[in-house]
Amino acid sequence: MSIDEAKRLAGIAACDEVKSGMKLGLGTGSTVHHTVVELARRYHEEGLDVVGVPTSIATHDLATELGLPLVELDDVDALDVVIDGADEVDQAFQLIKGGGAALLREKLVAQASGAMVVVADDRKMVDTLGAFPLPIEITPFGGGTTQRAIASLLGCDASLRMDGDQPLVTDNGNHIIDAHTGPTLTDPAATEAALLALAGVVQVGLFIGMCDVVHLAGASGAERLVRPGGRLA
Ligand code: 5RP
Repeated sequence: MSIDEAKRLAGIAACDEVKSGMKLGLGTGSTVHHTVVELARRYHEEGLDVVGVPTSIATHDLATELGLPLVELDDVDALDVVIDGADEVDQAFQLIKGGGAALLREKLVAQASGAMVVVADDRKMVDTLGAFPLPIEITPFGGGTTQRAIASLLGCDASLRMDGDQPLVTDNGNHIIDAHTGPTLTDPAATEAALLALAGVVQVGLFIGMCDVVHLAGASGAERLVRPGGRLA
């Protein structure tokens, strides 16, 4: 099975978490792309009555193109569930996210949701987080200072994410630092707290205690992993 087939399998499997009447967070990336396409199909062909809050301009544009109804996050009290991708998932369902630079809106939407479902191919499962460089959203003002502070705090290289020959600008007008920690993040909650204490750090791509279910797909098909004690257990 190709990686894209695995992503498609996981992305579509997660749609079974969705019931008519739900308000959904719609994540960002190539895996959840398949979820959004399938939700739109069920909306048009099967009468699945849902509205979504997108976590990025890219997902907003995809859902709009597919005719899936959207609402503003501020216009709903809460969301039932967010379905999103991840760059790494560990055994405790802790995540690294932000490979698509959407981590701030993704975390805002996840915190507003009653549950979080992650869709991923099985290359994303790890024992210890950090082989995937940790995305950190920072303010452009004082960006070099924040970049050096992150490198010093974590004791690793920290690179400014580029878009061609310019710094990548997020949907929120910020920049992204990728911290090359290696698979060393044994206490991601402490790492997140230390990074958030830096004034120039807007948000960190560590999602701790948020993910309740992972739809994971690989050569042997798709499986639904449930976090013990989580909101969907
Ligand atoms: C975007 C993200 C994505 O969900 C993450 O990068 C996974 O993307 P993909 O499904 O394309 O591998 O966090 O900020």
